[in-house]
Amino acid sequence: MPARNSIGVIGIGYVGLVTSACFAELGHNVVCMDIDADKISSLEQSQVPIYEPGLEELVRKNQERMLFTTSLEKVFDRCEIVFIAVDTPPTFTGDADLSRVFAVMSSLPGLVDNHHVLVMKSTVPVGTGNKISAELARQEAGNIDYVSNPEFLREGSAIHDFMNPDRIVIGSRDPQAGRKVAMLYDKLKAPILETNVPTAEMIKYASNAFLATKISFINEIANVCEEVGADVSVVAEGMGYDQRIGRHFLNAGIGFGGSCFPKDVAALKQIAGNSGYHFQLLTAVIEVNELQKRRVVNKLKKHLGNLSDKTIALLGLAFKPNTSDLREASSIVLASRLLGDGAYVKAYDPVAIPYAAKAVRGILLCDDILSAVSGSDAVVLVTEWEEFEHLPLEKMKECMRHHLIIDGRNFLDPEEVRAAGFAYEGIGRI
Ligand code: UDX
Repeated sequence: MPARNSIGVIGIGYVGLVTSACFAELGHNVVCMDIDADKISSLEQSQVPIYEPGLEELVRKNQERMLFTTSLEKVFDRCEIVFIAVDTPPTFTGDADLSRVFAVMSSLPGLVDNHHVLVMKSTVPVGTGNKISAELARQEAGNIDYVSNPEFLREGSAIHDFMNPDRIVIGSRDPQAGRKVAMLYDKLKAPILETNVPTAEMIKYASNAFLATKISFINEIANVCEEVGADVSVVAEGMGYDQRIGRHFLNAGIGFGGSCFPKDVAALKQIAGNSGYHFQLLTAVIEVNELQKRRVVNKLKKHLGNLSDKTIALLGLAFKPNTSDLREASSIVLASRLLGDGAYVKAYDPVAIPYAAKAVRGILLCDDILSAVSGSDAVVLVTEWEEFEHLPLEKMKECMRHHLIIDGRNFLDPEEVRAAGFAYEGIGRI
């Protein structure tokens, strides 16, 4: 048997590439496999096809320890431990689409032997590990070890999150296989939680669903604050001092987006539903999030009346700062609603513009803040990019038709904005 002293990673998307580069940074040799030949050849030149701060530098720095390939044979030939990090996008029912995971499974016969350990990094529904083990047994590869090792990486700070995890979760059927995977993280100072496969799978969903619940909760508090003249930012601060609650994820705004929260909350609701349990709380979390995006339209109407023929400038399109990702971004829903109401929509984002034309049709994409706000009746701050913290208010005032700013992330200083002669509305703020 050849010396299998590399780690394999199948699926070099966002999670796969961050995982590969970080393992390489920890000193491991990594074989990175993807079916997309163009992506692999770019990566061979250290060109990273996604925007993630520090990632390109990390790939370049660890070039010698990272091998990029389209060949699965190479992965199983050189690696004992192989991570699966393929996409699991939502289907129209809210279930996770596991076709890419099962495509990998069906390629395994003839490649694997009982020394291999398959490790699931992708977020997969609770119970998938058991299904995969059954599939491996059917392929007469039943003695390959299977481990669940979910990722908790935030876009924009994924490298930091990998290197400084709050915890490492390892679910296995055979604790010895789990230990082998745990050892890969030896250099990281983090609690390691070893458990069985379904529990590890559930930890990932429960964590994301809880964080999403926290956001929908504070968004509803913000909506009530608007009715009673309270300020949600101060309420969140006051709540956050209570260590049982904590200050994180209590920023009210126009809703959560991204490739994980909406998908994982829907999938957990679906997992519960498929097993006969109606998860009432998550139904509300999803609904509150949808309604939150629409409230901005009502705020605009309150100031401008009918939106037909009004021009609205969106500052920020990405679902959050420091990423070009537009998946499930609040900006997309908001722009569609505004266009549906007959408004013209212009937008500027420091990074996401090149990707925006595909995601939202019918909006005018601009190169900078002033071109976006010029001639507009209102500005909506959608993403809290650092560049927007101190807006050129004087210049904006000169080129806007009406002087209205809706701060969808409670990011601006209301006093500064009002002092510059604008009407200001945040979310749950006075
Ligand atoms: C998330 C999880 O944090 C990560 O652990 C998981 O593995 C993947 O999903 P990510 O999607 O990168 O990471 O985004 P995150 O920073 O968690 O923010 C998600 C969304 O919630 C964003 O749209 C953000 O704007 C919104 N949010 C976050 C709020 O509206 N209020 C908050 O207080 C925090």
